[in-house]
Amino acid sequence: MPLKKPAESAVVAEHKSLVRFITCGSSGDGKSTLLDSLCSDSRMSGSKSEYIGSSLLGSALAVERGQGVISDIAYGCFSTGRRKFIALNTLAQGHEQHMRNMVAGLSSADVAILMVDAQKGINALSRRQVYLAAQISVRHLVITVNKMDLVDYCEGVFQQIVEGYQLFAEKIGIEQMMFIPMSASKGENVATPSEQMPWYNGPSLVDYLNAVEVDDERSARDPLRLAVCSVDRSEQGYCRFSGQLCSGSVKPGHKIRVLPLGKESTVSRIETIDGDLDEAVAGQSVTFALADAIDLSRGDLIVASDQPASVAKQFETRIIWMHVEPLLSGRAYLMQIGTQTVSATVTDIKYQVNVDTLEHMAAKKLELNMIGVCSISLDKDIAFDPYQENRDTGSFILLDRLTNKTLGAGLINFALRRSHNITMQHVDVTREARANHKLQKPCILWLTGLSGAGKSTIANLVEQKLFAMGRHTYLLDGDNVRHGLNKDLGFTDADRVENIRRISEVAKLMMDAGLIVITAFISPFRSERRMARELVAEKEFVEIYVNTPLDIAEQRDVKGLYKKARNGELKNFTGIDSPYEKPESPECDLLAAECSAEDCADQVVSYLQANGYVE
Ligand code: ADX
Repeated sequence: MPLKKPAESAVVAEHKSLVRFITCGSSGDGKSTLLDSLCSDSRMSGSKSEYIGSSLLGSALAVERGQGVISDIAYGCFSTGRRKFIALNTLAQGHEQHMRNMVAGLSSADVAILMVDAQKGINALSRRQVYLAAQISVRHLVITVNKMDLVDYCEGVFQQIVEGYQLFAEKIGIEQMMFIPMSASKGENVATPSEQMPWYNGPSLVDYLNAVEVDDERSARDPLRLAVCSVDRSEQGYCRFSGQLCSGSVKPGHKIRVLPLGKESTVSRIETIDGDLDEAVAGQSVTFALADAIDLSRGDLIVASDQPASVAKQFETRIIWMHVEPLLSGRAYLMQIGTQTVSATVTDIKYQVNVDTLEHMAAKKLELNMIGVCSISLDKDIAFDPYQENRDTGSFILLDRLTNKTLGAGLINFALRRSHNITMQHVDVTREARANHKLQKPCILWLTGLSGAGKSTIANLVEQKLFAMGRHTYLLDGDNVRHGLNKDLGFTDADRVENIRRISEVAKLMMDAGLIVITAFISPFRSERRMARELVAEKEFVEIYVNTPLDIAEQRDVKGLYKKARNGELKNFTGIDSPYEKPESPECDLLAAECSAEDCADQVVSYLQANGYVE
């Protein structure tokens, strides 16, 4: 079984170091011409299965397209006397794909080559790319000023572009940047120095790539970080698992710690089908045996006992958003970090950066291609390192909870310690005791539907009926709550998300208090209804769809709001210029246009009786 990634092991065998580079630029800048001339001799066969090695972030971003590895953004490879090069491609169609490929490529690259058209100079896209390269901490950045032949090889044109970028680079803290004037189509300064530009004394691109300092062994020298992929539970007395080494190395006899829980053990064997290994190093995926039968699971991070990673559940992060639907503060997403997937909510968007002006702008949401500094809160502790210290254990992707689509990538700046000083306080009167005291099963009856669908009326009747049956209830109603607790919120998507987040938490507290809680909110988004559902146990959430079609709700127009919305006097009105996402499988679907409110309320009570919520 090959233990090195195949492409890398080939390189090691030839004693050539491997350099991954990415070419960025705008269309028409000459990227393809350059790549073709660099790679034409030994163009990769296009094999999708060849593992060419990449960062975890790069792999995670490539996975969605079904490749499993980053090879679909690999363009080709070529060798020189000393080195083997892998070129990563950013030539994807469309904004979303482009950004994703840029981030995947940059996070896997040692060198970023940014092509600029000498005739056009600096533009917004190339600024964004330099900024992104700086955020992702690509170690070497080279700006190739292409098409010099079309500006008569004029030094002044080159210098002007250099100065423009240097100014920008200084502002974003890039210390070193290389500039090469070239003509990719004529091969000037690509592999050989140009005779047309005697004023340029620097290296050609290939000479630069051959000389650039790339420390292959660095990740092997970093502290041990080993992500657990699967655990073999059949063995007694000791623990066996397989995992991938993100960094560092490990030998039998080494003391390790399993995070986030912190249990310690010793590596007893490193197994392969060809026999045991004396050592495993960064990049390898191997099976390990530990000396003790400790409780391990997929997603755990194994670290060297004396060089542990940190553990936390709240972070300051930089998020690069890659989806047309904006990121909303308060919405729950899935975070995939290493082999671990947890639930994550952005609790605060501190600011987003305008990459053209570098201004920090206040934001309630992050739009496609925006970069924002955000606080994130997880539903449980994870092990991590700040991105600056470890690219693999410090980066993550955010996924949609319902579709599993990749929405964004993130880099961890640091943990927010505030969560560490707040522990859950033990209380002696438990939720069970409170519920027993009231002789009932607490639950949340979540009514959703358009404005004017009849939610408040039906909710009110349900409460009356339950009250008459001796149940202890409380009704949270949209209009009422917006007069108090949520009076600071309007009707933008971001505010609606926050509205429902607060209501869900309040409903959960009331349920803890032993009550049957009835809520009547439009709650237009599936994602937040799902979040509310997941705050409580499976049977404790009953979703009730007050299913009145838009035309009927609009005809009724009890509060005259539809009319205002149609006249343009009321913005973001649900069903008119703001979406309503119908429930997919509600526990109760009330055809409220066809039945009376009384009938609908009876249906709810019958459901509760039939399913054991009330007698
Ligand atoms: S939600 O979308 O955030 O769940 P919520 O149920 O709290 O909405 O509030 C809806 C009520 O606010 C409506 O019944 C209506 O009376 C009023 N309202 C005022 N403006 C709007 C609007 N733009 N869209 C929907 N409802 C609005």
